[in-house]
Amino acid sequence: MTWYEIFPTISTSFIAISAILVAIGWRLIILKKRDAHEKTMIAAAIAAVLFFLMYTSRTVFVGNTNWGGPDSLETIYRIFLIFHIVLAMVAAVFGISTLTLAFKKNFAKHRKLGRWTAVIWFVTAITGVTVYVLLYLMYPGGHTKPVIDAIFG
Ligand code: HEM
Repeated sequence: MTWYEIFPTISTSFIAISAILVAIGWRLIILKKRDAHEKTMIAAAIAAVLFFLMYTSRTVFVGNTNWGGPDSLETIYRIFLIFHIVLAMVAAVFGISTLTLAFKKNFAKHRKLGRWTAVIWFVTAITGVTVYVLLYLMYPGGHTKPVIDAIFG
């Protein structure tokens, strides 16, 4: 595995771990284990923040990787990638709102929004892992260029 592939592998694992923790946290609240639900969901949020920090630092210092598969699949890949990115941004806003409602003890609204947050986060994680598989496992990755190089040459 090359240096370019190590960061995405770790950051993608963090999305998957975060989604698994959300599923466990959901199950825990159904079983009325409030404390365990709170701790598990906070751990899920930390995993999501770690993913985000790794992803943004990689974008700046290592770069983003272009599509390296067949040209015929590039458009579909790009649409899928944009869908995943938009979903991840929506999930972030929903996640912050769900946590805020919980800490304000507005549990009726938290419960309603929390269900949407969890489902959106599951789809984000599944599409994120799919992007990773398409970009690094199924096809050789294309050119990788850091934003910092694009800016400072
Ligand atoms: C982003 C993180 C979180 C998500 C995605 C989330 C998700 C959920 C979901 C889906 C439910 C409803 C379960 C159901 O009825 O099917 C729920 C309920 C609940 N959550 Fe969270 N949760 C999060 C964080 C927290 C935190 C940090 C706390 C504590 C401060 C908390 C406290 C509760 C409580 C007390 C309930 C039960 C509400 C009720 O019985 O009406 N949650 N949460």
